[in-house]
Amino acid sequence: AAAEKGGFGTFMEKEIHDQPKAVEDTLLGRTDASGRLVLDELRIDPEELKGISKIIVLACGTSAYAGMVAKYAIEHWVRVPVEVELSHEFRYRDPIIDDSTLIVSLSQSGETMDTLMAVRYAKEQGARTLAICNTNGSTIPRESDAVLYTHAGPEIAVASTKAFLAQITASYLLGLYMAQLRGKLFQGEIEDILADLHKIPGKIQEVLDGGDQIRELAREMAQEPSVLFLGRHVGYPVAMEGALKLKEIAYIHAEGFAAGELKHGPIALIDQGQPVFVVVPSPHGRDSLHAKVVSNIQEVRARGARTITVAEAGDGDVVDYSETVFYVPETQPLLMPLLTTVPLQIFACALAAEKGYDVDQPRNLAKSVTVE
Ligand code: G6P
Repeated sequence: AAAEKGGFGTFMEKEIHDQPKAVEDTLLGRTDASGRLVLDELRIDPEELKGISKIIVLACGTSAYAGMVAKYAIEHWVRVPVEVELSHEFRYRDPIIDDSTLIVSLSQSGETMDTLMAVRYAKEQGARTLAICNTNGSTIPRESDAVLYTHAGPEIAVASTKAFLAQITASYLLGLYMAQLRGKLFQGEIEDILADLHKIPGKIQEVLDGGDQIRELAREMAQEPSVLFLGRHVGYPVAMEGALKLKEIAYIHAEGFAAGELKHGPIALIDQGQPVFVVVPSPHGRDSLHAKVVSNIQEVRARGARTITVAEAGDGDVVDYSETVFYVPETQPLLMPLLTTVPLQIFACALAAEKGYDVDQPRNLAKSVTVE
């Protein structure tokens, strides 16, 4: 069993460390010699993809957070509206679907019943269905018109880690491919983004190499009853994913918020010593998002919060207001989730281990939920 875990104590640790390869393998072989994206495997007529007027992403759990990340990128690159919906909510609300709707399901297992039922429903309504899935030949891709596999390798730990990064990677490839087909980005822009995606595995490795700092904090915080996570733009789903990891394996009350929503309610929760993780946008990003999030850090700190920030290397603005800073290497703002998620995974994993919990098999949860 030790060998299966690649020398790590748990599958989750191993899978966190598999992430550079999960992203690399998901990118592999999907460009031709001239640098153009080739996704022939999709089995969907490029003409049909050109005519898509709306995308609806369907998923549950961690996969749904990957979908939220994908929405930011796909709308920005492709200029097609993207909705993200939890599979189990979708078909009970009379959603608007027609034959120009593309359903993109995200599922690690390909067997999640809620997602399968939502895909079937959308198909009956005439939508095109595309599965982004990590399990070859599983039910959801078999029942979909098209499939784009993530190549994260088998994920054993119940709490998803490498499948999440692979899902983001694959949905970014889909977005770039659609942008290429529809002429929404210049070929050079697509190549630049792809080149930066190819640099992500090495950068994830850098984050992994700095893991001791995160594990030390986790040990120190093992007795905390509640932890909050804030993020904005693509950092918002990352904050929710960071909170979900803590709930799932460390059984700690945790919530992720959009940083801009703080003043509309959650700030009332802050009192002396409350730990708050903040996923800080890139200082090179658009508009003034970075400055706004830095002022959110100041606001919670002024009310007694213990602030832990995940920021881009070289971001000096957060230092004065952070008890602890975890730096991740610089990349394009839209690619940041592939790096900022990693410290949050390491944190939850180390904290659960410190509490003596079964990290790979948390109570009450199943790896794949095959009932509605
Ligand atoms: C279960 C797992 C989660 C996972 C979710 C969706 O609840 O415990 O880790 O994110 O299902 O699974 P899927 O296989 O569809 O991605």
